[in-house]
Amino acid sequence: MEFGEVLKTRRSIRKFTQQQIPDGELTELVDFARYAPAAANIQPLKYAVVSGKNACAKIFPHTKWAKLLAERGTPAPGEEPTAYIIVMSDIHKRMNSEADAAFAIENIVLAAWEKGIGSCILGSINREQIAQIINMPDGYEINYAVALGYPKQQSFAEEAAQSVAYYMDDNGDVHVPKRKLDEIMYFVD
Ligand SMILES: Cc1cc2nc3c(=O)[nH]c(=O)nc-3n(C[C@H](O)[C@H](O)[C@H](O)COP(=O)(O)O)c2cc1C
Repeated sequence: MEFGEVLKTRRSIRKFTQQQIPDGELTELVDFARYAPAAANIQPLKYAVVSGKNACAKIFPHTKWAKLLAERGTPAPGEEPTAYIIVMSDIHKRMNSEADAAFAIENIVLAAWEKGIGSCILGSINREQIAQIINMPDGYEINYAVALGYPKQQSFAEEAAQSVAYYMDDNGDVHVPKRKLDEIMYFVD
């Protein structure tokens, strides 16, 4: 896929086939994250890759999905993520770690999409519970979880008219209005 197409067609996916993602692919996603920009190049991030069925089943109850789609946005039984990458940061190196996590996560979700893997960044998570499940090292805190799996759902960006609220149509496809370019940018001569 051409790079611009990856950028424009990646959407949050919240329903997944149960085909496992090979561990090598997950490792490669973290490797891509490693090359992301990092403030002062301090690199405070660490990644827990959750790929086992049992561990994924333990994480799922501590996640929340697509508030705007109500229960239709949550993966039904048999549609759950088959892997998670939990992004953590060193609490002693907090300055800009949120931004660092965001850049790293962008590498993960774009590289995943290019491989045909769907993803959803999860901020609405029970960090305390997930920290226990992943045996989080001392001195770290969880920034976000990235849910991953092969897509069992389609989602399309569209030009926003009035509302930017994403919605699901009768086919179960998701539509994500993006603000128009002329609304969000201007040139300074
Ligand atoms: C920081 C952040 C936190 C998010 N947290 C959640 C979440 O907890 N649950 C969820 O279903 N989606 C979550 N999302 C996904 C957004 O809802 C999604 O990116 C947005 O609706 C735009 O859709 P798109 O990713 O398909 O372009 C999060 C996204 C970001 C950037």
